[in-house]
Amino acid sequence: MLYTRPPKVEEYKGDLLENDFKALVVPVPKSGDKPVLEGVAADIDKAVGGQLSEAIKLDQFKGEAGEILKVFGKGKLIVYVGLGDREASAEKLAENTRVAYAAATDQLVETVERALVVVDDDGDIAREAVIGSLLAAYRFEAFKSEKKAKLKSMAFNVDGRLLEEALAVAEGVYLARDLANAPPHEVSPPKLAEKLSRLFGELEGVEVEVFDYEKLVKEGFGGIVNVGKGSEEKPRLIILKYNWGKGKPIALVGKTMVFDSGGINLKPSQSLFEMRADKAGGAAVAGVLWSVARLNLPISVVALIPAAMNVPSGTSYLPSDVIRMWDGTYVEVTNTDAEGRLTLADAIAYAAKALEAEEIIDLATLTGAAWIALGPLIAALFANNDELADRLQRASAKTGEKIWRLPLEEAYKRLLSKKAPLADIANAVARGGGAITAALFLERFAKGKPFAHIDIAGPGIGMEAQSVAPQYWPKGLAPGFGVRLILEYLRSKTGAGQGE
Ligand code: BES
Ligand code: ZN
Ligand code: MN
Repeated sequence: MLYTRPPKVEEYKGDLLENDFKALVVPVPKSGDKPVLEGVAADIDKAVGGQLSEAIKLDQFKGEAGEILKVFGKGKLIVYVGLGDREASAEKLAENTRVAYAAATDQLVETVERALVVVDDDGDIAREAVIGSLLAAYRFEAFKSEKKAKLKSMAFNVDGRLLEEALAVAEGVYLARDLANAPPHEVSPPKLAEKLSRLFGELEGVEVEVFDYEKLVKEGFGGIVNVGKGSEEKPRLIILKYNWGKGKPIALVGKTMVFDSGGINLKPSQSLFEMRADKAGGAAVAGVLWSVARLNLPISVVALIPAAMNVPSGTSYLPSDVIRMWDGTYVEVTNTDAEGRLTLADAIAYAAKALEAEEIIDLATLTGAAWIALGPLIAALFANNDELADRLQRASAKTGEKIWRLPLEEAYKRLLSKKAPLADIANAVARGGGAITAALFLERFAKGKPFAHIDIAGPGIGMEAQSVAPQYWPKGLAPGFGVRLILEYLRSKTGAGQGE
């Protein structure tokens, strides 16, 4: 992995108390407004002295999702965790499960090396329990001299195959988080290309292709070249192919602005800092590809990662420049800070025409407008195809990664050309409907293929998410949003999705 990997998982089928684990997580469900003390929780409570039943009697433990009661017995820390109402909807149950196991894991990450986690369920809920646990164990400490994370391994009383699957998912999210949060110069476009080549080179079924700067210039990737040419660290187009040649691929395109300063249209100081995560889209599609390959999904997928640094210098592209894009479209640059759509459009057109993708999905921290409209938890979905949109929405409900569909309003297309007296279209066109016009810009390059654009400006970066984010999101960092959503989408296409 890049910097961080999830704890190891082990299947454990032995006695829950007679063992050498120093910590034990025990779930406690709730029914109506009362915790339910039966099954595993009741047995363990009885064996270690009844503190849980005391707490329930005294109204000190209600079984709310994520509520914690810590006791000690049998030589271990026992973390009881509330699961919330067991009669809730399937969607809510899954979310409560993730939240509960995340809250419990949070108690262990810095204090225990090996923990045993009880899961009193199977199927989807068991899967969410393991994933919630693993996601909450994430700490980005590569650049801290003192490492606090201790948790190396988590054992679950869960089927080993399910554990391996959950681990593969968690690895993809970890990779996405590492990439999105990495300091810009650690993953400059050339370094990122090297790192991903090395990482994915080891994976079976994956081929890595990197277009270097010369090749991008020569082949006319005007969007990627112009956005990236202001930096010493020239842009790259990184292409990860999984199951290449086995049917028409689904293309995943991720905005990978390693840093977005705005360029010559420089951003104000207070908006600069979070732009290290302007690569969250590319981070997510890399994470998806990792998990897809680790899960061996029977599907052909290609991830396109156009990596660039948008910075001002004497060689930067300029407001009022006209760019010839890879597909031949002329774009008038009305604002160098509307850079994402330029790099993405080249990658999208390349996926549609050269790679003959069956459908195209992009994830991008594309517009402040999407973030303003939907806040830190919810991404904006745009699609030119209802079946694609519906399937994405079902995957969203299952994974808890929230999306909300916005329209690709035909009439607004005129805004794109109206602002470009010199060229075909302009890159930045209007303040009103900024997320929509950005989506319309991209859709033009999909050449009529089924296309979905997911603007993750809010949840991709995760700024100001602290007070509303679920517990399995890392605090103050980009959460790796989109990996679970797209992965579930792809699983549903193979027929292996849950509840299909
Ligand atoms: N990366 C930004 C969008 C962004 C802003 C994401 C804030 C997350 C939080 C993007 O490149 C950008 O600068 N967009 C401009 C476009 C405008 C100039 C048309 C924006 O949204 O202001
Ligand atoms: Zn940007
Ligand atoms: Mn920008």
